[in-house]
Amino acid sequence: MTPAAQSLKAAEICRLAPVVPVLVIDDLAHARPLAAALVAGGLPALEVTLRTPVALDAIRAMSEVPGGVVGAGTLLTPADVKAAKAAGATFGVSPGATDRLIAACEDEGLPLLPGAATASEIMALLEKGYTVQKFFPAEQAGGAAYLKSIGSPIPQVRFCPTGGISLKIAPDYLGLKNILCVGGSWVAPKDAMSKGDWAAITTLAREAAALPRA
Ligand code: 3PG
Repeated sequence: MTPAAQSLKAAEICRLAPVVPVLVIDDLAHARPLAAALVAGGLPALEVTLRTPVALDAIRAMSEVPGGVVGAGTLLTPADVKAAKAAGATFGVSPGATDRLIAACEDEGLPLLPGAATASEIMALLEKGYTVQKFFPAEQAGGAAYLKSIGSPIPQVRFCPTGGISLKIAPDYLGLKNILCVGGSWVAPKDAMSKGDWAAITTLAREAAALPRA
């Protein structure tokens, strides 16, 4: 899968909703109801981070939820890419990007939203053909003001910023021309998950899904 085809697919996924939930799942039993709650609230694209022992099984379980588009986050190595693909992930997200990781996604045919945080990293990915990138860690790396500035010299790259974003500050990003969507974990708080309060998560998803985009 070429970088151009990957970016096309990444853009398609980012356009599904203004927010991509970033999910850290500790209990496999949460996977299905969590996905159903988020999809019901209008957030179909779901990023399951490969940070817990049940993450791959969670991807498998969530992929069965109608309307969901399930991807794997925190991809660090070619082995992560292989495992994510085998679990049924339809896209991948990485905090940064290495040549080995990129080659693995190209070989496996897994559309990647590769992470970048500086002008040089953004340019290096653009040189390879990645025009849709994750900006991480968004708030810590300069926030919406930084992305607005990057949009002047590098308008051809569009971003999904992630890291430190909340419902309150999401509009600062979503109002920019070079932003497709934002990522965030605020729509799936740990306490709501542990209580099984899926209705609360659907309410958070609805608020996020209603955010206007530029
Ligand atoms: C992450 O990979 O942890 C994401 O950036 C989510 O960040 P958040 O928890 O600050 O939304």
